[in-house]
Amino acid sequence: MSCRIIDGKALAEKIRSRITKEVASMKTKPCLSVVLVGEDSASKVYVSMKEVACIGAGMKSRNIKLPESTTEEKLLAEIRALNADKSVHAILVQVPLPKQINENRILESVAAEKDVDGFNPCNIGRLHSRSPTFVPATPKGIMRLLDEAGVELAGKHAVVVGRSNIVGKPVAALLLAADATVTQCHSKTKDLAAFTKQADVLVVAVGKPRMIKKDMVKKGAVVIDAGTSRDANGKLAGDVDESVRDVASAITPVPGGVGPMTIAMLLENTLRAARNQGCK
Ligand code: GUN
Repeated sequence: MSCRIIDGKALAEKIRSRITKEVASMKTKPCLSVVLVGEDSASKVYVSMKEVACIGAGMKSRNIKLPESTTEEKLLAEIRALNADKSVHAILVQVPLPKQINENRILESVAAEKDVDGFNPCNIGRLHSRSPTFVPATPKGIMRLLDEAGVELAGKHAVVVGRSNIVGKPVAALLLAADATVTQCHSKTKDLAAFTKQADVLVVAVGKPRMIKKDMVKKGAVVIDAGTSRDANGKLAGDVDESVRDVASAITPVPGGVGPMTIAMLLENTLRAARNQGCK
């Protein structure tokens, strides 16, 4: 079976160029503040990519870097200041946070109208009750890729592997809202392959290099690989093995699939936050 490669990089570039044009026409430029606490090397790379993308789109970027030893109270004070700052339209607190900090308490403290990650419980609730909200960037990017690939979701069986707050749970909610029948698998699922083999649309967001093999996928399935991790040799790898291309009808590559869409969707959310706050 010939497998279509869903090009997230190309779609993300198209979206970014549309956003850049719109921002160029605005008198007040959207401003995103990304807060990074500590020295996690992957987080540093992600934050720097977000900053570069933001500036590339003509937006303002105000990154705040705090030491690993930062207390919860100090971080809360920083977020309260950003919430009150009218020149900042969008706030993103990069996770994971150091272990002395209660992540939920921090994410709850981000003003809902600036919460471009959609991680505030108020925005999570809105996502599940299907009222307009900031949809988390990676799940939003996945849905856009499925749409671009012309995948009809109504009545299809979508299987999500992973239950993180960042990808697994919100993408399952979005697939359900798109009328798919959704099964959610996770680390305690018994006989994972029995579920993945039923998927018309398989979304994998685990972070385990190449864990989904060809014999776990139904012929003709659409496969979305939201994993990015390093294998034992330090090579960047998705959650889906190359061999899956022999059976899938379409697949997102790593790199160049979901990753670039995450950044494009963050820019879209930032632009929306700024517009909602009156930027013209
Ligand atoms: N860490 C990994 N992905 C993300 C994301 O999309 N947003 C935030 N805030 N942290 C992350």
